[in-house]
Amino acid sequence: MVQQAIPEGQATPRAYDIAKIRRDFPILNRDVASGAKLVYLDNAATSQRPVQVIAEITRFYRDHNANIHRGVHTLSQEATGLYEGVRETTRAFINAPEAREIVFTSGTTEAVNLVAHGWARKFLQPGDEIVATELEHHSNIVPWQMLRDERGIELKFIPMLADGTLDMDAARELIGPKTKLLAVSAMSNALGTILPLEELVPLAKAHGATVLVDAAQAVPHMPIDVQALDVDFVAFSAHKMLGPTGVGVLWGRFELLDAMDPFMGGGDMILTVTTEESTWAEVPAKLEAGTPNIGGVVGFGAALRYLDELGMDQVRAHELDLTRYALARLGDVPGVTIYGPDNAEDRGGVVSFSLEDVHPHDIGQVLDDQGVAIRAGHHCAQPVMAALEVPATARASFYIYNTRDEVDSLVSAVEATSRMFGTG
Ligand SMILES: Cc1ncc(COP(=O)(O)O)c(C=O)c1O
Repeated sequence: MVQQAIPEGQATPRAYDIAKIRRDFPILNRDVASGAKLVYLDNAATSQRPVQVIAEITRFYRDHNANIHRGVHTLSQEATGLYEGVRETTRAFINAPEAREIVFTSGTTEAVNLVAHGWARKFLQPGDEIVATELEHHSNIVPWQMLRDERGIELKFIPMLADGTLDMDAARELIGPKTKLLAVSAMSNALGTILPLEELVPLAKAHGATVLVDAAQAVPHMPIDVQALDVDFVAFSAHKMLGPTGVGVLWGRFELLDAMDPFMGGGDMILTVTTEESTWAEVPAKLEAGTPNIGGVVGFGAALRYLDELGMDQVRAHELDLTRYALARLGDVPGVTIYGPDNAEDRGGVVSFSLEDVHPHDIGQVLDDQGVAIRAGHHCAQPVMAALEVPATARASFYIYNTRDEVDSLVSAVEATSRMFGTG
C-alpha cells in the first residue's frame, strides 16, 4: 500500500510505540467474515480491550471474587480493597478532589440519568431552564425531555452551525438567569467536534447554573482535569476507554452528590432500615444501590493504568495525527463529503462522511467486506443529522492502536465503494 505524503503538523510522538501497543490487542490480528484482516475504526462506539484488562478481570474472578463492603472474610475484604482502589485510580485520572466523589454507574447513560433523577428532579422548579446543545448524544437529551414533561421545566438547545461547531451567539442568548443546568458534551460522538467548554462554562457560571459535562468521548481521548474545567458533574463510560462494558463514572462535587436523592433504593445504599422508614448511607454508597459490577470496575482499573502509562497527551497527539491524515486523504476521494470542523485540532479522532448517492449503510457493508469496521447511522445523535439535513453518516473513529496504514485501508475501501457505485 502506498503511504501518502504526511500532512503538516505534529506527528505521533516518537516515544509512542505503536507496534508494542498493538501486541496488547490480540483481536486486532483477527480476520472478519470476508477473510479480510480486521481494521477496527468503530472506537467511538466501543474500544477494544488490551490483554492487561482481560487478565485483570480473569484474575479477579479466579482469585478474589466475593461481594464487597458487607463481608468480614478475606475474599470480601480483598474484593472491597480492589473495588475501592479503582475509585482512587479514577479520581487521580481526572484529577477529582476526593475519591468519594467518584460514583460507579453502568455507563454514561446511567450517570446522566442519576443526575436527572437524583439532583435535577429534586432541585429544579417549574419554569427553570436546562440548556443543552444540538450536538448531544441522545443520552444527554432524552433524560432531560422526560424530566421536562414531568416537572414543567424548560429545555433549550444551542444550535449547531453547518460546520459542526456550536452557534456561540445563540449560546450567549440562550444561557441566562433562568438557566439552572447546562448539560453539554465535551466532544460530539457524531462529528468529533470539541465543544468550547472554556467559553460555555463561564457563561453558565455567571448565572449561577450547574454544569454537567458528558465526557464519554473526551475522557478516553484527551487529558481531562475536572477541577480545571470548573464544572459540577462529569459522566463517562469505561468501555470506550479499554475497560469492560457495564461500568461508568459519575464524578460530582461532594456537596452536590451529598444533597442528591438516591436514584435507586436497595442494599448497600442505606444506613438503617425499619419497616417504617430508611436512612441513607454516605456518598458514594448512597448512589450505588445493589451489588455493582465489581469485576468490571476492577478491570477498569487496569484500563486506567494502561492509559496513564501511555500518557493522555500522547494519546491525543496520536489521534490528532491520524485525524489530520484521514481528513487530508478522505477529502481527496471524489464524491466524499466530510462533516464537522475543518481543522483536525477542533475535533477528536472522529471522521464522519458520506459518499454521493450511496447510503451510509451500503458504505458500511462494502467496507466490512474489506475488513474495515466503521459505523453507519445516526450515531444516537439524530438532532445532529437533522441539522446537517442527512439521514445518516458513515463514521470512522480512531484510538490508541490505529495506524496511518489503517487510514490508508479505509481510504482504499471508500475508493472501491465509489467505483462500485459509479460515484464521484
Ligand atoms: C457522547 C456520548 N455520550 C453518551 C454516550 C452513551 O454512553 P453509554 O452507552 O456507554 O452509556 C455515548 C456513547 O456512544 C457517547 O458517545
